[in-house]
Amino acid sequence: MSRKLKIGVLISGRGSNLHSLIEATKTNNFPAEIVIVIANVPNITGLEIAKKARIPVQIINHKNFNEREFFEDELHGVLTKAKVELVCLAGFMRILTDHFIDLWLDKIINIHPSLLPSFKGLNTHNRAIESGAKFSGCTIHFVRPEMDDGPIIIQAVVAIEQNDTSDTLANRILVEEHKIYPLAVKLIATKQISIRNGQARLKNPIYPRSALLNPC
Ligand code: GAR
Repeated sequence: MSRKLKIGVLISGRGSNLHSLIEATKTNNFPAEIVIVIANVPNITGLEIAKKARIPVQIINHKNFNEREFFEDELHGVLTKAKVELVCLAGFMRILTDHFIDLWLDKIINIHPSLLPSFKGLNTHNRAIESGAKFSGCTIHFVRPEMDDGPIIIQAVVAIEQNDTSDTLANRILVEEHKIYPLAVKLIATKQISIRNGQARLKNPIYPRSALLNPC
């Protein structure tokens, strides 16, 4: 197998998506490896998950920096030193500046628990339920300066049930998040994705579109 794509995972909390990426990297011939996990918050379970998997971790606590730019300079330095080629935001709850996003253009991806462009921002599940929508889901996308915006790589659809609460819906969507994040990384690492006219496209559609919507 050829060289693996080096990924850096940025987290702020629980780390279940980090865990799904770690598990994927353990599978045969997975084309990417996690070279560093960076947290902007100390003492979070995601850090324990990374340490248990013996992945180098770094805490860059944003509270220690007076300016957002200084925090990002440090972040950029750590990612560069680790030779990261793709940054995966996995529950990273910190807005990044346009400057940082430009530095990593088309090399940062994010997971968001809704079918973007619907329900950007926080409190997505409540808003989806209250809107009366019959479906929600999750999205992996390339990061652009506007929050929760950018070329969509993969989405998974989850039906909203009549008696759903924010928690029950979040739990079902999380199951899908854990499937599509590794798949998105795999598609990028194997150079299956190109960006044209602001849209992410599959170069050689090895997966039918339906499989990208609901991968198993
Ligand atoms: C996930 O549901 C992810 O989609 C969401 O935070 C959670 C992190 O969980 N991300 C966002 O809302 C970003 N806008 P995890 O720490 O267990 O992966």
